[in-house]
Amino acid sequence: MRPTAAPPATDVDVLLESEEQRQILEHDARSGLTASPKWLPPKYFYDDAGSVLFEEITRLPEYYPTRAEHALLNGVAADIAAAADAEVLVELGSGSSEKTRLLLDAMTDAGALTQYVPVDVSLGALRAAVPQLRQFYPELAIRGVVADFDRHLAHLPGEGRRLVALLGSTLGNYPPLPRGEFLGGLAATLNDGDTLLLGLDLVKDAGRLVAAYDDAAAVTAAFNRNVLHVLNGELGADFDPMAFDHVALWDSENEWIEMRLRAQAPMTVTIPALSLTIELAAGEEIRTEISAKFRRERIARELEAVGLRLEGWWSDDAGDYALALARR
Ligand code: AVJ
Repeated sequence: MRPTAAPPATDVDVLLESEEQRQILEHDARSGLTASPKWLPPKYFYDDAGSVLFEEITRLPEYYPTRAEHALLNGVAADIAAAADAEVLVELGSGSSEKTRLLLDAMTDAGALTQYVPVDVSLGALRAAVPQLRQFYPELAIRGVVADFDRHLAHLPGEGRRLVALLGSTLGNYPPLPRGEFLGGLAATLNDGDTLLLGLDLVKDAGRLVAAYDDAAAVTAAFNRNVLHVLNGELGADFDPMAFDHVALWDSENEWIEMRLRAQAPMTVTIPALSLTIELAAGEEIRTEISAKFRRERIARELEAVGLRLEGWWSDDAGDYALALARR
């Protein structure tokens, strides 16, 4: 039955302090920018400005994944809720939690759900989302958790049968090896009866894929350059973001989209917080994101490799997008 007790007074638990976040950022920036080729982790796109740009991306005509996931969830959320029969929904990378409404509705209708745990690196996003969600779902215990889900998986709360959801094809941001490690870590936190729900963008026509990451209005280009604004703001770097071209390409061998920033001219960039100066040659690229696209057989194999079984698979008629449900 649903709890009648008042929800906990704290909106958000913090497992990841800003001091630790800061050290991780410094470490990531140093290792990425001194590597050859240079790279930066995609999680740094999402400061306030970057989150706004991402929301804009989700509304672009070329960017189909968000709409595809929403339409698919709309049709199959009840089936997923029935299959998972969960008391707790843990959502990794919840952001604004907007896409989760369909799942929360279906799971509360199914009757078993008592608790929602949105997990995000952004305290701001959780502080905004949690009170709103409390209004929509007064019967649910809702507890936001600020965490880096690469590091804090083992410490996520939630007593009872859990559905752990990673939507939006976020899994695609992991290169294959880290993806296996991450899935392994996830598998280790699942108890018998718990399930894992993955939203996955699927392999499709290269033209459509590239257009989704290189839109005519250049919103994705601005989103890509935003990572340099973030480094300027956080580390005092002097990147000139407009001196970089946005590059989006389809790697057909690895079946992933790669975003890069290409220096238009030779440049020297100083990063005071790292006591670091880096040189870029004309045309040199910084890899800022991979966005892997999936096939059913491949994800089934990757899940099996960490002891999980693909139990449910829902995809749209066009074969653009899938929701995968797995358990131990
Ligand atoms: C939020 C990681 C799923 O890879 O499609 C959108 C981010 N990057 N446009 C994706 C993104 C460029 C997005 N994910």
